[in-house]
Amino acid sequence: MKLICAPMATLSHEAFRISVEEFGGCDEYFTEMINASSLLNMGPFEKYYLMNGPCPEKIVWQLTGTSAESLAKAAEIVCEKGGIGIDLNMGCSAPQIYKTGAGIAWMLKPLKET
Ligand SMILES: Cc1cc2nc3c(=O)[nH]c(=O)nc-3n(C[C@H](O)[C@H](O)[C@H](O)COP(=O)(O)O)c2cc1C
Repeated sequence: MKLICAPMATLSHEAFRISVEEFGGCDEYFTEMINASSLLNMGPFEKYYLMNGPCPEKIVWQLTGTSAESLAKAAEIVCEKGGIGIDLNMGCSAPQIYKTGAGIAWMLKPLKET
C-alpha cells in the first residue's frame, strides 16, 4: 500500500513536502498543477513549481494545458528535473481552467485533437 499526496494547487510545493517529510512523509508526491504554456514562457512563479525537493525521486509532475503540443514540450522540461511520472490534468472543473480548454475540457475534445 502506498501513501500518495494528491495534487493541490497553491499547496503541493517544496516547503509543504518538507513539512510532510518531517511528519513521516509520503511514498509519492504530486506537484501542484503546472500550466504548460506558463512553464514554456517561464512565468514569474514557474521556478518555484520546478523545485523538486526534498525527495525528487518521489515526485509526480502534474501538468495542465490547452494543447497537446505545449503539454509535450512542458513534459520534456519537467522530465529533466527527475521524478517518477507525469500526470496530465484532465479533470479540473474550475471555470478558470476548463474555459481555457484545459482540465476537464479535454474530455469534450475530439480524439484527433488529443
Ligand atoms: C486546495 C485543493 C487544491 C487542489 N488542487 C488540485 C490540482 O491542482 N489538481 C488536481 O488534480 N486536483 C486538485 N485537487 C483535488 C485533490 O487532488 C484530490 O483529488 C481531492 O482533494 C480528493 O481527494 P481526497 O478525498 O483525498 O481529499 C485539489 C484539492 C484541494 C483541496
